[in-house]
Amino acid sequence: MTTISSVTDVRGRVAARVVGRQRELELLLAAVGAGRDVLIEGPPGTSKSTLLGAITTEWGIPLVFVEGNADLTPARIVGHHNPARVLREDYSANNFVAGPLVQAMRSGGFLYIEEFNRAPEDTLNTLLTAMAERRVTVPRMGTVDALPTFRVVASMNPYDNVGTTRLSSSVHDRMCRLAITYQDAECERGIVALRTNNDAPRMIADAVALTRATREHADITQGSSVRGAIDVALVAAQLASLRSVPIPRAADVEPPRDLPEPYLAVMFDAMLVALSGRIHLDETVETTPESTLRTIWEDYFLLRPAAAAPG
Ligand SMILES: Nc1ncnc2c1ncn2[C@@H]1O[C@H](COP(=O)(O)OP(=O)(O)O)[C@@H](O)[C@H]1O
Ligand SMILES: [Mg+2]
Repeated sequence: MTTISSVTDVRGRVAARVVGRQRELELLLAAVGAGRDVLIEGPPGTSKSTLLGAITTEWGIPLVFVEGNADLTPARIVGHHNPARVLREDYSANNFVAGPLVQAMRSGGFLYIEEFNRAPEDTLNTLLTAMAERRVTVPRMGTVDALPTFRVVASMNPYDNVGTTRLSSSVHDRMCRLAITYQDAECERGIVALRTNNDAPRMIADAVALTRATREHADITQGSSVRGAIDVALVAAQLASLRSVPIPRAADVEPPRDLPEPYLAVMFDAMLVALSGRIHLDETVETTPESTLRTIWEDYFLLRPAAAAPG
């Protein structure tokens, strides 16, 4: 299952289900194919779950998902004995309820821990031991040996520093690392088209460009991922239909200067709904999400096309 040839097959089949990301897919497959555990570092919405879901589906193994947070204690990740049954029957292997780590080890799946750096220190230590030994020993239950395809894949947002632990060097020393960033605009247009069934290139190009601009704006510390662009396109299509506003045909990537005002209003309202909760403003700046989005909308539709026009 983890031989080089099957890794090559999997790459071909996964590539058909994912827009772009060939290099990341290749590096990730090489690491898990080599039997390694991996830490993926990247902001939200950068294909981490998509890649892992596609790889495990193609490999025919489970993807066991768990979110890293303060509640993810060692007992929760390993499992616990059902208290009611313990009262009746005393502790036994039969009344042990497997947690995600034991589930993934038993089934030879990938244990995918999002926001890894939000998990408590003792949970990280439990995981390190499981990664090193490929087995866990649970008191009054016994020892679980991991099937050969068991992997730990962790992810974290490198810009996240609320409620996080700085990962110790012993964690970093035991995992391979893949850094992942936002895709280019063309790939993001491909993703939005794929996920929305929206066949209006004008609206998709605008949704992607407006969302990408939130990542560049000086007053925004973290802008929106492609998830925001997907929602701008979905909400805008609904609004256009509710208001009977035609979607302009112009399919160029750059917005033309003569876009009708009702269409521009649809795009602004869709931005408000889809993006205002997704952008994180710099706390030292006195502004609102609405006015920041307004600037982005004006720069994109009203200032930029005029500036680009000849003469
Ligand atoms: N490369 C891609 N190909 C197709 N869809 C993608 C791609 N990247 C992201 N998406 C879509 O964007 C959304 C967020 O992607 P996801 O993989 O869940 O991000 P992450 O796990 O990094 O937060 C999902 O709806 C997913 O379908
Ligand atoms: Mg995800």
